[in-house]
This record gives sequence, C-alpha cells and structure tokens, in this order.
Amino acid sequence: MNANKALWEKGNFSEIAAYMRDAGREVAEGLGIKPGMKVLELGCGDGTTAIPIAELGAEVLGVDIASNLVAAGNRRAAQAGLTNIRFQEGDACDLKDIPDDTFDLTHSCFGAMFAPDPVAVAKEMVRVTKPGGKVVMGNWIPGDKTSFVSLLLQIGASYTPPPPVGFVSPMLWGVEAQIVERFQAAGVPVSNISTEKGVFTFVSDEKTPEDFIDSLRTWYGPTMNAYEAARELGKEDDLHRELVEMANSQNRSENGRTSIPATYLKVSVRVSEYVSANPDIESSQQIVL
Ligand SMILES: C[S@@+](CC[C@H](N)C(=O)[O-])C[C@H]1O[C@@H](n2cnc3c(N)ncnc32)[C@H](O)[C@@H]1O
Repeated sequence: MNANKALWEKGNFSEIAAYMRDAGREVAEGLGIKPGMKVLELGCGDGTTAIPIAELGAEVLGVDIASNLVAAGNRRAAQAGLTNIRFQEGDACDLKDIPDDTFDLTHSCFGAMFAPDPVAVAKEMVRVTKPGGKVVMGNWIPGDKTSFVSLLLQIGASYTPPPPVGFVSPMLWGVEAQIVERFQAAGVPVSNISTEKGVFTFVSDEKTPEDFIDSLRTWYGPTMNAYEAARELGKEDDLHRELVEMANSQNRSENGRTSIPATYLKVSVRVSEYVSANPDIESSQQIVL
C-alpha cells in the first residue's frame, strides 16, 4: 500500500478546499497566466488553483495522487463547462506519463510538498517544464506562528508517535536552504531560484473557526490521524481544545465567521536549457549554461 496515497484518500479534501476557493483564485491571478499557456498543476486536489488557471485561458493538466480528488476535479471542471483542463492520477515523485519539456509553467499550491521524496519531486518538476519556463510552488513554513497550517500540523504531531526512520518532513519545503539544495540537485543554478512570503486566507462566511477544526477532524487526513493518535492516548479532548484555541487566535473575521490568514513561502524557479532527459544523472551534466 502507498501510505502517501492512502493518507490523502482517507478523508475528503474537497471539504477543506471549500475554505480555499477565494485565495486559490488570487494565487492563480498572480501567476501571469496567458491564454494558451501549458500549465501543470501538481498535487492539484479538486482544482482550487487549477480551475481558476484554466478560467484564465491556460491549457491545464491537474495531477494528484488521490483518485477521489482527481474525480472531484474532473466533475468540477465539467460543471464549470471547461474543456481546457483535465485531471489525472499521478505521483509527483515520478511523473512517468509526462514527457520532458511539456509545460510553460509547473505550479503546485501546497501539493507537491507532501510527496515523500523531495529531490525526486524537484527533478520531475524541472524535467517536465520547458526550457525558459517556470516552476512555482506554494509551501507552508515550519514553526511560523502566523501560518495556521504549520501550527495545525505541529500541534497534531505533538500527539502522534514519531514518524518512521527516513521520513522527510514536508515542512522542509518551507526552508530556503532545503529548497536551493533540492533544485540544485535537479540541475538548477542558485541564481534561478527565488522565494518570497505570501498570505493565503481560509475563508467561510458561514462557518466558525471551531466548525473549521471540526471539518479538519472529519475530512483532512493528517488531522484525522492526529485525532486517532490522541484518542489512543486518552487526549482527544486536549488536542481538540488546543486546535480550537489556535484557530480562534488566528481568526481575523469581525463577525465570528472564518477568515484565517496563513503565511506561506512562494518559490519561483526559472528553468534553463538542459541536455539529458534522465533525472538520475548528475546535475552538472544536465545543464547547458
Ligand atoms: C493540502 S492538499 C492541497 C490540494 C490543492 N493543491 C489545493 O490547494 O486545494 C495536498 C494535495 O497534494 C496531493 N498529494 C500528496 N502527495 C502527492 C504526490 N506524491 N503526488 C501528487 N499529489 C500528491 C494530495 O492528494 C492533496 O490533494
């Protein structure tokens, strides 16, 4: 069994994505999309950013490891009457169905960061992007007190047994030195890599922060697992109280509903020419500077 796939198929991320639609559209609008651009949205979920990118006129392929989210994405695209987007199942660590140099933009909004082999992910993102194209990622930042999702995962982890040996925390995608190392391993010179902070706001005009935590507890794989682990320790109520307090303290809504801003790191990578299609060979052999 693929544990990474099982984690994301466990719940129903669409229930969480419902809080992400406005911010997802904002992210898409910041990408400089032009009609006809070929875009890969990696770890696309049900299309929070992929669908607005298609609405801006790009030809979009959404790839996600969770088959339920791929199906939901295709349903949402059909409901929106979009014919320039499709969703398919795939693993960011090995995009084996996708030829080299396919996309003008490879984008991932809090998606590829959750794949288990970050160096393979960086190499695959660079491989499928055309020379002269771009890779852009949005990643949560570890230990950031203004990042709701970092706090959510950190609190959850404090109730969960240590991960297996060899596990690489997804949060390391929010550390600049790690980002540089991973893209350098993919053959990208450091001068082509830049980062800046952004804010992604989780919004609901109907639900309170406590409702949001209840949604995460019921539908979001990592939080579902944290509650299961806390239950085994007899500490489920403690975890719930900590998460609700945290969500309330982050909430900026003036009417008691939900508006929770979360800081993230936007990573931009310019992809240069390279000569080999083989992501396993040494990076120095791949680059034509
Ligand atoms: C936090 S959700 C974000 C979904 C979407 N980008 C959004 O903003 O709504 C993380 C997504 O990454 C996907 N994912 C995790 N590991 C993956 C992998 N190895 N390959 C492709 N997708 C993956 C999950 O299935 C899930 O849809």
